[in-house]
Amino acid sequence: MYRTWHHLLGACSGPAGDLHAADAPREMMSGPESVLFALARAVEQRDAKTAGHCERLAFISVALGVAIGLERKALVALYRGGYLHDVGKVGIPDSILFKPGKLTAREWVTMRSHPKRGEEICRPMKSLKPVLPIIRHHHERWNGTGYPDGLRGEQIPLLARIVQIADIYDSLTSQRPYKPAYKPPEALAVMAEETRRGWRDPRIFRLFAHLHQEVIGKMTGIDRGNHNLESMSASLLNLRKALSSESRQLMGQTNGYGRSAAAD
Ligand SMILES: [Fe+2]
Repeated sequence: MYRTWHHLLGACSGPAGDLHAADAPREMMSGPESVLFALARAVEQRDAKTAGHCERLAFISVALGVAIGLERKALVALYRGGYLHDVGKVGIPDSILFKPGKLTAREWVTMRSHPKRGEEICRPMKSLKPVLPIIRHHHERWNGTGYPDGLRGEQIPLLARIVQIADIYDSLTSQRPYKPAYKPPEALAVMAEETRRGWRDPRIFRLFAHLHQEVIGKMTGIDRGNHNLESMSASLLNLRKALSSESRQLMGQTNGYGRSAAAD
């Protein structure tokens, strides 16, 4: 019986059924790391409308990683990246972060500094090294028009591409100062359009669409715990089997996400 999604993902994440991938980071956290995670929570709680965003993002990212068949170390990095990706927003003023209208060019420069700020905040923590590429590159675009480095295609670390897809889906389906919450089909349509425009990795988006159909779309609230974890676990494992050839191809072509994003 799975008590929480941590147990579900843990049980799905490796050959040993008792691996609780998402619990492990908390257990293994040092004092300074705990402070960083608390800081990430504080950033999230500056805006009541983004409550639960990090938790949902961590869930979707790890579930996508499980569906792709990533190893445990990468799943732990995804979990931590889900929480810490926007920690650099701690340095962005409220007047910019919560501005209901369009940002000026200068305000955009400040807003777009949050990935680098986040990386700088987390860099002193040696154990967070695998998470740094996620924090720095979660706003890059597949066609090279993103920031901060304008990386394109497979130059963008695989784990950053995964967290980006999860981030966009959760942002679209949540209410924000500048937009209402989209229904899941509307969010998927926006993501499909962005993928057509060349902004997203088409393979990761396709995998996410499968995951949504089999698992996420059946859930009524990741943070409310009122979903059937047993049937989701079965769906997730079936999905991983169904996607295995596509996943192998993805990981083969990305030539080792481990070197850039999940190395020690
Ligand atoms: Fe961000």
